[in-house]
Parts: sequence; structure tokens; C-alpha cells
Amino acid sequence: MRIARETVAGAIPRIMLRFETAGESHGECLVVTLTGLPAGIPVSVDGIDRELWRRQQGYGRGGRMKIETDHANIVSGVRHSRTIGSPIAILIENKDWKNWTEALPIEDVDGGEDKKKPVTRPRPGHADLAGAIKYNFQDARYILERASARETTARVAAGALAKALLKEFDIGVLSHVIQVGTARLQRSVNWDELVSLSQKNEVLLGCVDREAEQRMKQVVDVAYRTGDTVGGVFEVVAHNVPPGLGSHITWDTRLDGRLAQAIVSMQAVKGVEIGFAEEGAAAFGSQVQDTIHYNKQGREFTRGANRAGGLEGGISNGQDILVRGLLKPISTLRRPLESVDLATRETAKAAYERSDICVVPAAGVIGEAMVALVLAQAFLEKFGGDSLEETKRNYRGYREQVKNF
Ligand SMILES: Cc1cc2nc3c(=O)[nH]c(=O)nc-3n(C[C@H](O)[C@H](O)[C@H](O)COP(=O)(O)O)c2cc1C
Repeated sequence: MRIARETVAGAIPRIMLRFETAGESHGECLVVTLTGLPAGIPVSVDGIDRELWRRQQGYGRGGRMKIETDHANIVSGVRHSRTIGSPIAILIENKDWKNWTEALPIEDVDGGEDKKKPVTRPRPGHADLAGAIKYNFQDARYILERASARETTARVAAGALAKALLKEFDIGVLSHVIQVGTARLQRSVNWDELVSLSQKNEVLLGCVDREAEQRMKQVVDVAYRTGDTVGGVFEVVAHNVPPGLGSHITWDTRLDGRLAQAIVSMQAVKGVEIGFAEEGAAAFGSQVQDTIHYNKQGREFTRGANRAGGLEGGISNGQDILVRGLLKPISTLRRPLESVDLATRETAKAAYERSDICVVPAAGVIGEAMVALVLAQAFLEKFGGDSLEETKRNYRGYREQVKNF
């Protein structure tokens, strides 16, 4: 996080690139604002919509995704297909809103009480109970409306803009699925495979390996048959990131910590892995650290492997950044778990609302957005610039310095 030089001691640090989302799952629309992108970055609405489409895909999605066809309605900050430096605001309509205007009106109306769709049997694993207690609602409806991962549509729109900035510097951010339930991808993956995967117009489970993807599908089929749900693991890869983003100097400037926070802030993500953290924890140090070599002809440092996931000491080291998100299975079950009715305090089956069964590929796309946003923040902290030209000039100067190191 870059701290504005003029802030006084104790003031809240100002992040150079920041975004905020608003909107409820069945409200009129989602809203995102993104402030701090330099002027001059090319923006394509179709490009953002493609990212929104990717977020909606995957085998195991529920009925809601059949209703929505997300579209980014940019209302400020972009003119003539380029950013102009002012805050960017995007609206994304919820097509389902027309079915909820009476249940969730902005203004109360006479007789409106009967139209509500209360949720009084909180679902284990959701924000329902903790949120209802915290905000003092006897009906968890308002809680789940905001806790829902529908909010991530807005994150993906902001992430598409962060990707547009990174693309100007040849940095790419993509994802793939490495595990669904117990079915796991058993091989490594290269960048070109991820590019091909992202260009597909039909998404099954977002895995680069056909055989592994079929095994993953079988697990989802079991969940379908038994009224259950399933989680898994996605991996986000950031390619061509320069060395030197983030810093070792303070806990909150470490890029690994910032990426971890961004990924775990996603609904249903319960764990983050950077590089081969889990394997590494069970191995000896000599098998885990990536050896350092020097290519005298090319005048560059190379590494024996990338088990560190492109991050050492909270700083990008020039290798691909690898961040994994571990998703728990979706909480809403067709065979609901035991809960308590908030009205009667009697034992009851948890509420059921139309729901996804498996969302690992979609979560990968959201993970890409979160990683892109954090990298764009760190990038602008390092290189600054109010216009793309200025950022590019600063970046070129740094690349020259690294080349001559
Ligand atoms: C892409 C995506 C879609 C999701 N869809 C659903 C869903 O349809 N039903 C559901 O119960 N949970 C769904 N979740 C998960 C819940 O939003 C999440 O579990 C809940 O808000 C509680 O937060 P927590 O799991 O982070 O503690 C989804 C998560 C993601 C990432």
C-alpha cells in the first residue's frame, strides 16, 4: 500500500488504486467504483463482458446463472475507449430483480410485509446467523443478500480493468482448476495452456487436462445425485511480473500477505497457498528453496524451480506468481442440515434457496480479478504515473536498471 507522502502520522494510509463494490444479490444492480488508474488505458466493454461471462461458467452452477447475462454498463471514467483518470463507475444489472421488486423494495409500502421472502432458518456455513445476530435482524434475508457471491461480479468487472493496465506491460493473469472434491490434476501446467483454456467458449470444470476434468465431473455428478455440494482448489498464475513488486520492509507491504488477503476475502475460500506451500511444509529445506543461477551471456539470474510461487520476502522475484485458493463446498444444500428457526427457536431444517453445487472454475476467474487488482496496486505504487505514457516511461527506466544490475 503506498502511503501518500503528505499523510500525517496516524492517518489512514491511502491506497493509490482502490475499488469498492455495492449491491445485493436480488437488488436492482451491482455497482463498482475503481479509482486511481492512470489515463490512457484502452478499455473494451466486450473485454469486460467476456470476463463476466467466464465468471458465470462451469459445470455445477445453479439456476441463477441461467437468468443472468452480465453486462458492464460503464457510467464514468472511460471516454472514447480509454480511461481518463477520473473514478470509473460500472453498473451491472441483475435481471432477477424484476422477480424481487416486491420482496425487496427500496421504500416500504402498505401490505408489503406479506411480500417479503424471509429467511428464518439460517444455513450453517453462511453469514445468515452471525449476520442476523450482529445486525439485529430476526430475518436473515438482508444478510444473505449482501453475503452472496453475486457481489463478485462487481469484483470481476474491476479486475478486468486492472488486467487492462497490466496487459500494457505484457503481464497476464489467468487461472485453472486443480482439484474438485477428491479429483486432482496430477501434472504441471504451462502458460500457453492457460491462455488456450481462457479462450474456450465452453467451460466444463476449467481444468487443462481432459482426463482429470472428467474425474472432476464425476465428483460433481455424485453431488448432483445426492443433493450435496463440493469444493476444490483453483490456481491463479500471474505471468511476466517484474521483480520488485511489494516489499519486505513492513508487514502490510508484503505482496504475499496482500495476495492472501485478497484471495481469502472471496466467499467460500477458506485457505490460500502460495507456490507449493503445503508440499514444502512436509519436505526438507534443501528440496524446497529454488536455487539461484546466473546466465553470463544473457546477463540474467535464473532459478532452478519455482516452488516459491514467484514471491520471496514479500517481493515478486520475476518468476510466475502462483496463488491457490481452497474452496469449501457450497453451504446451501438440497438436503438441508439441522438449524434452528429464529422465530420459534425450535429445531428445523435450514432454509434452501436455488443454489450452485460446484463453483471452482468461477472462483478461479474471481481469483484472477483479485490477483490482478492487487498486482495493479503494487505496480502503480512502484511506478506511479497519471498517464499511461508516464507509467510506461517509469517502467522502462526500471527495466533498464534491472538489466544493468
Ligand atoms: C462463485 C461463487 C458462487 C457461490 N454460489 C453460492 C450458492 O449458489 N449458494 C451458496 O450457498 N453459496 C454460494 N457461494 C458461497 C457463499 O457465498 C459463501 O459460502 C457464504 O457467503 C459464506 O461465506 P464464507 O463461506 O466465506 O464464510 C458461492 C461462492 C462463490 C465464490
